[in-house]
Amino acid sequence: MESLQDTAAQLRCPGGVQAGETARKMNEIHGTLNRKCIEHMQIAPGDRILETGPGNGAFAGEIVAAQENVAYVGIDWSPDMVRQAQALHAGLIERGRVEFLLGDSQALPFEAQCFDKALTVHTIYFWDDPARHLAEMHRVLKPGGRLCLAFADRTFTEKMPFARFGFQLYRVQDATALLESAGFIVEDVQQIVEASRDETGAVIDKLLNIIIATIASAQPATNGAAAGASRCKAD
Ligand SMILES: C[S@@+](CC[C@H](N)C(=O)[O-])C[C@H]1O[C@@H](n2cnc3c(N)ncnc32)[C@H](O)[C@@H]1O
Repeated sequence: MESLQDTAAQLRCPGGVQAGETARKMNEIHGTLNRKCIEHMQIAPGDRILETGPGNGAFAGEIVAAQENVAYVGIDWSPDMVRQAQALHAGLIERGRVEFLLGDSQALPFEAQCFDKALTVHTIYFWDDPARHLAEMHRVLKPGGRLCLAFADRTFTEKMPFARFGFQLYRVQDATALLESAGFIVEDVQQIVEASRDETGAVIDKLLNIIIATIASAQPATNGAAAGASRCKAD
């Protein structure tokens, strides 16, 4: 049986023989939250979208299908997840609609103002310096850009025994304060409650937070940057 440390390590950076099974379970358990984020991003035709920590990118196809001419880049620090994502989406990659890169979200390999929208789901727990990750998101989003940050609330995660191993836990107000310090405007907070189980097997509420944060428009936001425009290509 997988130890609590192993579970925590797989969620932080899925890899090795367990990587496939970890991704399968994450995609199953995290589907509702990811789909809510896609909805709240308000994807527009021509949007260029960044996802940090997408795992094997299971929802990238739904993102690019949301509107016409949408381009998606996913960046994850797990080589196994990037390989799986590239295999899963070979057709969309071939057509230039999606791209998966290996990298750390605290140092994004893009020039400033490359993306219209960004999302990151169940990743904040692993950020040693959350201000750096959010500063990077802020830097690469365009004026008028929109970020969807989604995570399980501290009231739930603190009941998960594996979260004792390297997880940073947050409530909405903690994450909101971090976003505002990074220069974002918190526009909306949505919450979902799912049924889950604690370590005794008892059914408990899993409170999930979706924070929608925007960047002030210096001028009317321009949509429709060409997918893969060279200044926005990864280094
Ligand atoms: C718990 S999984 C969530 C995956 C997916 N977003 C979902 O909702 O199912 C966390 C993912 O974030 C990635 N990750 C964690 N920290 C990261 C970082 N600093 N930079 C890039 N990826 C990171 C992990 O490799 C993993 O794929």
